[in-house]
Amino acid sequence: MEIKAERESIIGSNATNQAIQDVAGQFFKATVDAKYSYCFDWLERPIIQYPQDIVAFQELVSLVKPNLIIETGIAHGGSLVLSASMLCLLDVMEGLDPRQSPRKVVGVDIDIRPHNRKALDEHPLRFKMELIEGSSIDPDIIEQVRSHADGVGRVLVSLDSNHTHEHVLAELNAYADLVSVGSYCIVFDTAIEDLPVGSFPDRAWDVGNNPKTAVHEWLKTHPEFEIDKDIDNKLLISVAPDGYLKRVS
Ligand SMILES: C[S@@+](CC[C@H](N)C(=O)[O-])C[C@H]1O[C@@H](n2cnc3c(N)ncnc32)[C@H](O)[C@@H]1O
Repeated sequence: MEIKAERESIIGSNATNQAIQDVAGQFFKATVDAKYSYCFDWLERPIIQYPQDIVAFQELVSLVKPNLIIETGIAHGGSLVLSASMLCLLDVMEGLDPRQSPRKVVGVDIDIRPHNRKALDEHPLRFKMELIEGSSIDPDIIEQVRSHADGVGRVLVSLDSNHTHEHVLAELNAYADLVSVGSYCIVFDTAIEDLPVGSFPDRAWDVGNNPKTAVHEWLKTHPEFEIDKDIDNKLLISVAPDGYLKRVS
């Protein structure tokens, strides 16, 4: 069997393989408690993600070939550097000079701490990044971010800031329409809904109030997006189940 056909068959059987889903769920719960997602770097900046989601992101960027990536939630900058590095690689694969190509990532964070800003300012891929400080749902910030999308073509959006239902719903309303057909809006930390109640005692989000509840509510009135379950079924371990939203029309 060709590798792609074999892969489709594996992903299809994962979907109904309760044993593998249970083991993945147990691994996920245990590693959330152990703060596993804090353990990784991307090109020298800490990235607060699971490796599986980083690979999925790479595959989506390679598939979509966006000219613009919009990210909410910068933290230490690892995900921003991941996007910048992927955009540089797309340029190289298309025979373009990354420094001349207009491809870029726009990152928004309510609090870009001085040491993180300094590290990003000194990063070799800084030329691919735009940093905006402010709340991702502040009307002025939304306008600034949206201005970068004017006439750029393919756009991919990644939401990873405040994980409350209300905030993510507002982010989806602010940015998802910028996603081009065939591209994705990735909503991180939907997995909060699947963890035990009270898993984040010092945070505003919990079961019933998180990115997954926002995604499910928002999709009711946005049939132009669909959850890409194949991504969940292949990753098995992910912070973003039901969060890989594909724009289909
Ligand atoms: C989970 S971290 C982002 C991790 C990052 N995407 C990565 O992969 O390394 C969440 C970030 O969201 C930011 N944040 C919280 N509320 C926000 C808001 N209203 N607008 C924008 N950013 C916000 C926090 O300051 C924090 O840096």
